[in-house]
Amino acid sequence: MPSTPGWRRRPLLAGNWKLNPLTAAAAVELAEGIRAAAGTQDQVDVKVYPPFTWLLPVADRLAGGPVGLGAQDCFWEPSGAYTGEISAQMLSGWCPSVILGHSERRQYQGETDEQVSRKAAAALAAGLEAIVCVGERAEQHDAGETEPVVAGQVRGSLAGVVADDSPRLVVAYEPVWAIGTGRNADPEHAYRTMRLVRQTVAELIGEGAAQRVRVLYGGSVNAANVESYVELPECDGCLVGGASLKADEFSAMIASTAAVYGAVAQ
Ligand code: PGA
Repeated sequence: MPSTPGWRRRPLLAGNWKLNPLTAAAAVELAEGIRAAAGTQDQVDVKVYPPFTWLLPVADRLAGGPVGLGAQDCFWEPSGAYTGEISAQMLSGWCPSVILGHSERRQYQGETDEQVSRKAAAALAAGLEAIVCVGERAEQHDAGETEPVVAGQVRGSLAGVVADDSPRLVVAYEPVWAIGTGRNADPEHAYRTMRLVRQTVAELIGEGAAQRVRVLYGGSVNAANVESYVELPECDGCLVGGASLKADEFSAMIASTAAVYGAVAQ
């Protein structure tokens, strides 16, 4: 594995809160804890992705501070008869980032690459940052199919993306078997697959534009292992689930990432 290069894209630690916490008060308290930790450094972009119902109270509490806000999904149409959906236009202007194609939505809502690509195109056209998630399932990993599966997901899910989108495009490599299991991917596996993600993005939008895209690792990242990912040359941060619900632990992850990047910058 090559060593960390002397230049890096700005790292992102994104906290995906999923269907947590249960109350607005708990969401605001968590946001406050993360805001305090993020403000002690200037090396790392820190963003949180609460459930839709807590976006407004959390946005209120984060206003003017260093922590960014995002949603966990959006729909591809701007408006209309689509019960239960939220559009990219509705988020635009006050909720600048969105996670799309998370494996839990692919699993429980049956989302396809084609649907994810429509959502990504809509989000980027509305001016949002899009974090598009890809990753192989356990049986695909065990069968040695990681590379074709992930390359296919990148091609399918980013079909509508153009080079000008690259500063607002993030791809999160999240092996499904590593999500919420405590079985985080070996950094060597993560490195090889993130490198493949960037090569595949380059085929779609060109090498120069692909160099501006941030590629994250996600899957059982915590304070004890975050450094082993963010020091990888192809890794521009992490998408964090369970550990982002604990302000202390997420704060420690921010500090570790900032230390890795601070060392690179010297
Ligand atoms: P995890 O979730 O950190 O709890 O494994 C990651 C994710 O689903 O984005």
